[in-house]
Amino acid sequence: MSDVLETLPGPPEDVVVQPDGQPIRAATTDDADQVAALVHAAYRGEESQEGWTTEVGLVAGTRTDAEAVRALVEAPDSVVLLAEDDEGLLACCHLTKHDEHAYFGMFAVRPGHQGRGIGRRVLDAATLWARAWHVPDLRLSVLNERHELIAWYQRRDFVLTGESVPFGADDELGRPLRDGLALLTMSRPVELDG
Ligand SMILES: CC(C)(COP(=O)(O)OP(=O)(O)OC[C@H]1O[C@@H](n2cnc3c(N)ncnc32)[C@H](O)[C@@H]1OP(=O)(O)O)[C@@H](O)C(=O)NCCC(=O)NCCS
Repeated sequence: MSDVLETLPGPPEDVVVQPDGQPIRAATTDDADQVAALVHAAYRGEESQEGWTTEVGLVAGTRTDAEAVRALVEAPDSVVLLAEDDEGLLACCHLTKHDEHAYFGMFAVRPGHQGRGIGRRVLDAATLWARAWHVPDLRLSVLNERHELIAWYQRRDFVLTGESVPFGADDELGRPLRDGLALLTMSRPVELDG
């Protein structure tokens, strides 16, 4: 966990507070348009190349849209978490509860704000949320070609499980621009030793 985090008692949506005092909160359907725009900007938009990791050159098409985000917000056992500053939305992720794990996805930090620890805090918030769900593991999928991102998750104690699913032309997450793309599963316990 980031040492800058303050943890407070209360419902999961109140437990992670950023250094400027802004909580990482659960999205409502009113946030859907902004979340979809942020995800596009971070994953596939031209501005994503301002960040240190992008899907440009690997995957084309739409990662998500406002209607899909609204569905995630309204679904049971599902939460979209948001980090903001006074000027608006900085970061998001989506968490879904399964029997034996929570699945972490749609993880995005506004490109001009990457590399400042915001992603780490959002992952910490998701971990606390998964802990409140009493699931043992946190899981995610990452494209096999994104070596720098796999390394980032490994530095956060995630391990590759060996599971791999081809990223195909009919994938709802986008259109592959290279042969051999696959989504690899990574996992880590929600409760870490030490
Ligand atoms: C992945 C993402 C959410 C991380 O957010 P972030 O705010 O940049 O993350 P942090 O600031 O907490 O961490 C930045 C890390 O990048 C590393 N980094 C910075 N520049 C880098 C570079 N050129 N190459 C590799 N790593 C780099 C930093 O060392 C730091 O890692 P460390 O904390 O282990 O030292 C963000 O980059 C993003 O939105 N990417 C596009 C969308 C995406 O790929 N989502 C994940 C899909 S699985």
